[in-house]
Amino acid sequence: MKIKAAPSILSGDFSKMGEEAARMERAGADMIHCDVMDGIFVPNLTFGPKMVADIKKCVTVPLDVHLMIVKPENYIENFIKSGAEYLSFHIEATDKAKDNLLFVKNAGVKAGLAICPETPIERVYEYLEICDFVVIMGVHPGFSGQKYISGTTERITALKKEINSRGLNVEIELDGGATESNIGEIISAGSTINVSGSCAFNSPNPESVIAKFQGKR
Ligand code: DX5
Ligand code: ZN
Repeated sequence: MKIKAAPSILSGDFSKMGEEAARMERAGADMIHCDVMDGIFVPNLTFGPKMVADIKKCVTVPLDVHLMIVKPENYIENFIKSGAEYLSFHIEATDKAKDNLLFVKNAGVKAGLAICPETPIERVYEYLEICDFVVIMGVHPGFSGQKYISGTTERITALKKEINSRGLNVEIELDGGATESNIGEIISAGSTINVSGSCAFNSPNPESVIAKFQGKR
């Protein structure tokens, strides 16, 4: 499985999102992570489907849309129409996880289930057969630049073991708190999609950060 770097536009300059996404693509990003927040599921607000559609016009790499919103089923179709190629929502935000995953998959989009740090990782196990990826949060969702919560790597390891024991092909995405210092252990534990917000955007050398998030150096 290719190890992919997914810079999060949340750490970009919101007055020039397209340029920021293109800058990360030029630096080697495999996809652009788009954080959608509703001010209810998380204590912050970002943007909706139009921003995703407009960013889409500025890059050729896939968009990885991470919905941190309540009742994601109300908006999933809009984000698919906006061009999301990977689409995840939170298991804590809906009682329709199964229907939502199937809806996303049937639209030909990679379906992901995201999980907050305090939610037992076993909660996603019953959905693994119908997931393309699981997003393990390394921070409490809402903001970039937070410290990696200890114990997250162990959650990646446990999930990876469960996926392997069932012979499944589910990818693990680590989102939040990844740095050049801890990305090695995150990749070793089994994460193949590595989000970097502050780390890539605040670096004078995003190429080097992205290469590390791809497990290259
Ligand atoms: C947090 C977001 C993350 C965030 C990651 O709610 O879902 O995607 O942008 O930022 P860093 O890598 O700075 O923790
Ligand atoms: Zn995210």
